[in-house]
Amino acid sequence: MKTSNMQMFPNGLVIHHYMLPVPGIRKKIIYQFSDTHLCLADDLSSEEESRYAAERSTKWLSIREGFARSHDQLYTEEQLLDAGTHFKNLLGHAVSDGDAVVMCGDVFECLSGANLRFYEEQMRNVTVPAMAVCGNHKPVGEIPDGYLFSSTKKPVQTIELDDLIIIGFENSRREVTKEQNECLLDLFKAGKPVIIAMHVPVMTEENAPLLKESGEYFQLNYDGASETTLEFIEILKQHSGQIIAGFAGHLHYPNVSEIAPGLTQYVSTQGILGNINRFEIGV
Ligand SMILES: [Fe+2]
Ligand SMILES: [Fe+2]
Repeated sequence: MKTSNMQMFPNGLVIHHYMLPVPGIRKKIIYQFSDTHLCLADDLSSEEESRYAAERSTKWLSIREGFARSHDQLYTEEQLLDAGTHFKNLLGHAVSDGDAVVMCGDVFECLSGANLRFYEEQMRNVTVPAMAVCGNHKPVGEIPDGYLFSSTKKPVQTIELDDLIIIGFENSRREVTKEQNECLLDLFKAGKPVIIAMHVPVMTEENAPLLKESGEYFQLNYDGASETTLEFIEILKQHSGQIIAGFAGHLHYPNVSEIAPGLTQYVSTQGILGNINRFEIGV
């Protein structure tokens, strides 16, 4: 199902609704959002960190509007809230209504102590299974251990629900490794229906004109992508019958397209403008 209905709320939240009536799956709600680009400062931040956070946050005021204008995304005054407020609203809504939450990268604009502390505090109260994959706005190798956000650096993550499995891939450098592919093949062997979550989207036949115009920075299978990255996409195609959906972010505009017949990729648009995808899955 490719069409979505859009619902706007006074707090700037914009919900894009999708219905995926997959037989054999018990009805459930899964939320997807991405690209909140948090760049916060708090009482523990150094002067330099605070200055950088203020600079980047100001910069994102115009970047998000630029993406919205160039891709015909409507936005209101309420959607120009700060990234931290959007993140709280997005997560709060997803947790109150959803059975699981998937964040498809660029939750953080920068890897600061204030961001790690804020994420920790927000995620501590999350009562449904949640996953965030790494975006490209921070070096994955520099993400410290010991925080809830640390799981974003795992090459592969999973959320196992009763009748489906969500598999998150770290592809923030537009690279999928042989080890990740082997892990994916093992997970398929279990036979459960799958949702794939990643940051950088697959360039499909359908979205190629748009992604080519946006540039190779926005394409997982760019000209020159590694063999193992291309193999990852082949594995997805070969298992299209077992995949309910692919989720991605990174584009800052919404995109829905088929990776293969029956396998649809849903790219969530910018969370920093309050956008979130709501999937009603199953029957
Ligand atoms: Fe982004
Ligand atoms: Fe990105």
